[in-house]
Amino acid sequence: FAHTPELGVLEVHAKTAVGVDPEGTIQFIETETTEDPLDIGARKFQIPKDRVKVVNISGSEDRFFFPGFIDTHIHAPQYPNNGIFGETTLLDWLNIYTFPLESSFKDLAFAKEVYHIVIEKTLEYGTTTAAYYATIHSAATKLLADMALRMGQRALVGKTCMNANSPSFYTESVEQSKASTLEVIHYIQKRDPTGELIQPIITPRFAASCTDSLLGWLGQLRESTNYHCQTHLSENKSEIEWMRELFPQYKSYTDIYYQNKLLGRRTVLAHCIHLSDDEKDILVKTHTGVSHCPTSNSSITSGEARVRWLLNSGLHVSLGTDCSGGFTPSILEVARHALLVSHHLVMRTHNDKEKLSVKDVLYLATMGGAEVLEMQNMIGSFEVGKKFDAQLIGLCARDSSIDIFDFQRPKWGAIKPEESQKRFENLVCKWLFNGDNRNIIRVYVNGRPIVYKE
Ligand code: GUN
Ligand code: FE
Repeated sequence: FAHTPELGVLEVHAKTAVGVDPEGTIQFIETETTEDPLDIGARKFQIPKDRVKVVNISGSEDRFFFPGFIDTHIHAPQYPNNGIFGETTLLDWLNIYTFPLESSFKDLAFAKEVYHIVIEKTLEYGTTTAAYYATIHSAATKLLADMALRMGQRALVGKTCMNANSPSFYTESVEQSKASTLEVIHYIQKRDPTGELIQPIITPRFAASCTDSLLGWLGQLRESTNYHCQTHLSENKSEIEWMRELFPQYKSYTDIYYQNKLLGRRTVLAHCIHLSDDEKDILVKTHTGVSHCPTSNSSITSGEARVRWLLNSGLHVSLGTDCSGGFTPSILEVARHALLVSHHLVMRTHNDKEKLSVKDVLYLATMGGAEVLEMQNMIGSFEVGKKFDAQLIGLCARDSSIDIFDFQRPKWGAIKPEESQKRFENLVCKWLFNGDNRNIIRVYVNGRPIVYKE
């Protein structure tokens, strides 16, 4: 079992038994044990042996469990456009590629086809929790929530709100936006009353897409409830300039959300690239979370977010695929790009401290996501009391693009523990840079095997 319980820390537990109850909660973690897991369960927790199923991967040195990935920013309806963005930047990209595709989700058959593929693909790539933007359509948004629940993925699902500065074929009135927001929230809560698997999330697309009055109403709704909230902030210089023109009465782009009470714990802001010190301070003060989307930021030429600066300021930072500003449904690939983008930042600033390590980006991909979603007591690492959301990684899985040589294997117990740890860390580096869905043997959500290849 490997995980990143803290920023910059990769913990590895060889010879470990993890007990998970039928509700998917981790009951015990016994490290350095050779005892039969059935005996551990019986001895420590009086669990009858015939009620326990054992998953034994001992003997397969190339396999390990890692916490499921958490994608804190993904536009489910944009999936068909992955990889297609031409030479555009944000504002023309929205008009040319994005709005026409999203508008077609009034067709429920089309929505069903796309959403099935999105959930299936993200699960296959190890995403056990996703914060989804849907479209303005309430019926298709409810369908997305239903499908995540049925297919077993933990999901926050938001009806996108847009009643301003949007094309005539893809816009809504303020009354429609409010009514369908409430309709979708209540529907999701009825479908999963405990909120264990699916939850609603308030989703103003970005400030420009909403009137002041809609933003204020959504902020009131957030304040008076416990709902999550997600939107975009400071992605692109022309976008920021446009916000200044549209909202001259506010001090900054961030101030628009702040004054409308949209910031706080459980709010996720995608991008946060070009923030001023004052804007960053507002996010710190309000405990607002950030979703870093490096594949998107490189593709549509938005910029390089200063992730180390955000982290050092005390902000929670996570990763988002931002499909289809980003081209991949894989959080592993996004983590790889997060590392490389941090190197590009260093090449420009000559400040080595901005570099993110393999351990750092894997933390952002798991625990960082849990913190941003305020689910750090539930998911993100392997800990007693948390849910077992995990991926079983096989480095040498069939057709894997990872090559491992014998001198690189950890050989647990046969050599000094430090040496085994170092070798294992090197294998995790190989996984980050050369791994993909072929290395995912199984994916568990809430203790249930959702993807099961062998
Ligand atoms: N800003 C407003 N809408 C969007 C979107 O769909 N994707 C991205 N990346 N930025 C946005
Ligand atoms: Fe986005």
